[in-house]
Amino acid sequence: MCGIVGYIGKEEALGYLIDSLRVLEYRGYDSAGVALLDNQKRIQIKKSKGKLGNLINLTDNATDLHGSVGIGHTRWATQGIPSDINAHPHSNTDTSVVIVHNGIINNYLELKEDLIKNYKIAFTSETDSEIVAHLIGVFQNQGLSLKDSLIKTIERLKGSYALAIICKQEPDKIFLACNEAPLIIGIGNNQDLFCASDSSALLQYTNKIIRLKDLELAELGRNGEYKLYDLHSKEIKNPEIQILTGDPLLLDKAGFKHYLLKEIHEQPSIIRKLLSSHLDEDLNIQFPEVDSQILKDIDRIIILGCGTAYYAGMVGKILLETLSHIPTEIEFSSELLARPVLANEKTLLIAISQSGETADTLLAVKSAIQKGARILAVTNRPESSLASLAKKSTVLIQAGVEVSVAATKSFTSQMFCLYLLAIKLAELRSDKKLSAANKEELNWIKGELRYIPQIMEQALSRAEIYRSKILPFAGRHAFIFLGRGVNYPIALEGALKLKEITYMQATGYAAGEMKHGPIATIDENIPTLSILLPGPTYHKTLHNCIEAKTRGAPSLGIVADGDNEAIRELDVIFPVPQMPSSGEIKALGHKQFEDILSPFISVIPLQLIAYYLAEYMGKDVDQPRNLAKSVTVE
Ligand code: F6R
Repeated sequence: MCGIVGYIGKEEALGYLIDSLRVLEYRGYDSAGVALLDNQKRIQIKKSKGKLGNLINLTDNATDLHGSVGIGHTRWATQGIPSDINAHPHSNTDTSVVIVHNGIINNYLELKEDLIKNYKIAFTSETDSEIVAHLIGVFQNQGLSLKDSLIKTIERLKGSYALAIICKQEPDKIFLACNEAPLIIGIGNNQDLFCASDSSALLQYTNKIIRLKDLELAELGRNGEYKLYDLHSKEIKNPEIQILTGDPLLLDKAGFKHYLLKEIHEQPSIIRKLLSSHLDEDLNIQFPEVDSQILKDIDRIIILGCGTAYYAGMVGKILLETLSHIPTEIEFSSELLARPVLANEKTLLIAISQSGETADTLLAVKSAIQKGARILAVTNRPESSLASLAKKSTVLIQAGVEVSVAATKSFTSQMFCLYLLAIKLAELRSDKKLSAANKEELNWIKGELRYIPQIMEQALSRAEIYRSKILPFAGRHAFIFLGRGVNYPIALEGALKLKEITYMQATGYAAGEMKHGPIATIDENIPTLSILLPGPTYHKTLHNCIEAKTRGAPSLGIVADGDNEAIRELDVIFPVPQMPSSGEIKALGHKQFEDILSPFISVIPLQLIAYYLAEYMGKDVDQPRNLAKSVTVE
């Protein structure tokens, strides 16, 4: 989504701004811009539609672009089409006040009308953001300081915002403000200060940050001094300084053509990392970063997330109910926000978010906290807003920075953490009452988890096979994905990946639902891809697949090596390796667990299928149209 950056110090700001924007670009790339304030109090703005490269061309050619105070922005359009004019920064009429904004001002129309009617202001853009610059300008013209003008402006805003502001009247300052949108101050080492909407943009300069809280303001000065205020202009003393632990973001494709492909191939090593931090030699599961009390005496679990994180949560629900027998619901964060949350102190709310900054998820968590629910965050970002809401109960998915907009490695690592959690909760709940069979099952699953990295590697080594089998379908306009049980969410995730990066119509269905309606859409132009791995649902899914084939649909399947039945029935198979001891659990008499780990295998060909189709079709694989990495608006 949109990214904000800023620099104030003694050096030229432009290089810092551009390098920070480079880090944030993968999160929103409709347009980008910078504003610089020089020693003569001149403000220059450069902005351009499209990728950051367009802005860099503009700034490279601008010899007179100077200033040691500056702000910058990379945009994902919410209000107003992607264009040069709608790109940030925005200014008031005489360009004395310049702002960049993330978020949505809900009452902007009313404010705009007021500014037009009462102050005869001519707007240049279609954005909601522009009103902020004009409002601040109006209050400044009434004699107020920048701080007081900003406070008066904020009092009139309804909605979410992270704002960075520079102005001619107070040229040695950057002002910041935020509400329901992240904004961070970076404390530099040379009496300089930075700001950004995401700490990853700051790590190349400093690891000391202050995270602004909702309805707080900050004033950054030239000599490294900063002050925070509340909306009553009262100074907030000793704000908490956090020390970031991550490494600067290395934008390196490691020889792969796209980040997406690199990230798909990183999955086995991430699962290995998770195994070594959470599962010891004696098969004990540890969550050192989680307050163990919150996992005890739970009578209900709510999982929430958006998009891919939601699908990981769907698999988690199945695991949690199957293994721990705790009633578990899964909700889209945005839907949980649409009604009162039924939660109490015995409810565990598991919020899943790679970025930890997804607005819907943060708002839903805040509302569950008010109901007394216990919060467990599953995130990739220890310093994120979600992790700070969850206080000490955060499970880190340890996936490393996911640059590609389409989530892959974060999905499997979220799922893996949920498997570990489900087993841990099953153990805690049953405690001494664990029956021998339960213990046996849980130990078997824990033992099997260790094979996942190598099986994923084997599946990845077949990438070329998957590529050659899927390319003949590149011209189709639609795809259907079918799965059952633990592989139903994988069918949904496979469809999501395909639509995100190829822009094809792709729909995932629970296989059993096909004949309750969707089968009407089937014809010879719509390939049906079924997940057909050994387990209790295998034959039922195979029948659904044959029913589609009977009606003309080309039938494709993710099938286990040596599955001759599927080879006979299907048009095209994508073979995957089997877990080394998959026969054992059946022999133990627990057939229901036969496919429990199969999502880690079935998802690999689906990710590769989406990738190879998109690459073949010449799509912008890492930065698909209309999307953004971290969705910080509702
Ligand atoms: C899909 C994708 C999105 C995100 C969703 C949640 O490939 O990337 O659907 O999964 O926006 O994002 P996080 O996990 O950051 O909350």
